[in-house]
Amino acid sequence: MTPTHIGIIMDGNGRWARKRGLARTQGHVEGLKAGKRIAKAASDIGIPYVTFYVFSTENWKRTADEVGFIMGLVRQYLRAEFSFSRENNIRVRYTGDISRLPSDVAQDIIDTCAESACFTGTQITLAINYGGRDEIVRAVRRALDNGQEINSETISAHLDNPDIPDLDLIIRTAGEKRVSNFLLWESAYAEFYFSDKLWPDWTASDLSMAIADFQKRERRFGGIK
Ligand code: IPE
Ligand code: IPE
Ligand code: MG
Repeated sequence: MTPTHIGIIMDGNGRWARKRGLARTQGHVEGLKAGKRIAKAASDIGIPYVTFYVFSTENWKRTADEVGFIMGLVRQYLRAEFSFSRENNIRVRYTGDISRLPSDVAQDIIDTCAESACFTGTQITLAINYGGRDEIVRAVRRALDNGQEINSETISAHLDNPDIPDLDLIIRTAGEKRVSNFLLWESAYAEFYFSDKLWPDWTASDLSMAIADFQKRERRFGGIK
């Protein structure tokens, strides 16, 4: 079976740039191109849902220059790539607390999601100002605001995108083997795939290899085979 929902921790942009004597920001420019390549590849394969970790709730610790540059790239991507979404029938969604983003960035995210809501192919979710703990806290608050009791079902039902199924596969690039606060709730039974390759170097064949590896896994969900 191919995975229904893949989450990707796109890591190694800074190292990619450093290896070439370039500014870290140049790594993010190349990282964005890789993101488009992999979104296209996932859409070609017919993966229903892919979530890309774009900016974490902890990434504000970086310099103002780097944060500002990443926000600028997000806006540029959203504005310039609508035709890419249309040609590939890709619906763009988001997860994370966008109320804390610069208002122009937040508005572009909302507009892009609305404009692409009619596309019925692969759903690409951008995790921006996203933290797994933050999402759970916000879900619990929403459930309480709706007068619900707190249990697994009500928390799941109040996540940012309750209709998107849990993760089947998490990919992390650039050799790091940690989850860095990505989709904590949704990854309860996800399979992990770690790649030493830096994110800007990722191509469609890397995605195919990750999926092939996933297909060899035996998932038991706590049961007995
Ligand atoms: C991932 O690349 C992109 C973001 C976190 C925004 P990094 O910027 O973390 O690259 P490294 O880990 O420093 O190489
Ligand atoms: C995780 O990468 C966040 C994103 C890919 C957006 P980081 O580079 O921020 O994670 P750590 O700091 O190495 O754990
Ligand atoms: Mg990193």
